[in-house]
Amino acid sequence: MIIAPSILSADFGNLEKSIEPVKDAEWLHVDVMDGHFVPNITIGPVVVKGLRGITEQVLDTHLMITDPLKYTKAYVDAGSDRITFHFEAVSDAIKTAEEIKKLGVKVGVSIKPKTDVKVLLKVLEYVDQVLVMSVEPGFGGQDFMPEAVEKIKELVTLRKVIDNNYLIEVDGGINKETAALCKEAGVDVLVAGSYIFKDKNPAARMNDLR
Ligand code: DX5
Ligand code: ZN
Repeated sequence: MIIAPSILSADFGNLEKSIEPVKDAEWLHVDVMDGHFVPNITIGPVVVKGLRGITEQVLDTHLMITDPLKYTKAYVDAGSDRITFHFEAVSDAIKTAEEIKKLGVKVGVSIKPKTDVKVLLKVLEYVDQVLVMSVEPGFGGQDFMPEAVEKIKELVTLRKVIDNNYLIEVDGGINKETAALCKEAGVDVLVAGSYIFKDKNPAARMNDLR
């Protein structure tokens, strides 16, 4: 199981100190919001560049933005290793995935809670990961939507018939209990923000998830 702490809930007054306790996590999840695709504004490439200077962890960049291709190169140049775009944000998901891959990074596609897994059928063979949103994107600290569990199971089933071994990632409301439900369903990557960073002992919370 890959754990990806979401730095959205970390302390931006001292990011380096804040991510220290999660240095054993394989990935760091970086939430990018544009105030348009979602009603919040967060992390620009300049912050990713700063992060790249203080950690070698995989920077798993979740673009919750209207025009992902316009900004992907800036994030890749800043140090992002994996770029996930939203299916709902683009008109041609296959083309978007291919363009992102050309920049030399791994690519993911994400769906919001109300979007059906079936819309992804054609794009699944082009991506390295599928990110299932288990809250409405935009903010940390929301409750897990249990519908995500079925979606994870569907993606596990589809992976058996599609000739591509994509990772399945879940994001939103992950804690010890909801992580167990997702693991049972077959998830590969757990994103967790507030559960890890809003605790006095983020390292212990990481171990809880493991
Ligand atoms: C929400 C973000 C999440 C968020 C998760 O739009 O995509 O990555 O940080 O936060 P928690 O784990 O607090 O739900
Ligand atoms: Zn996210």
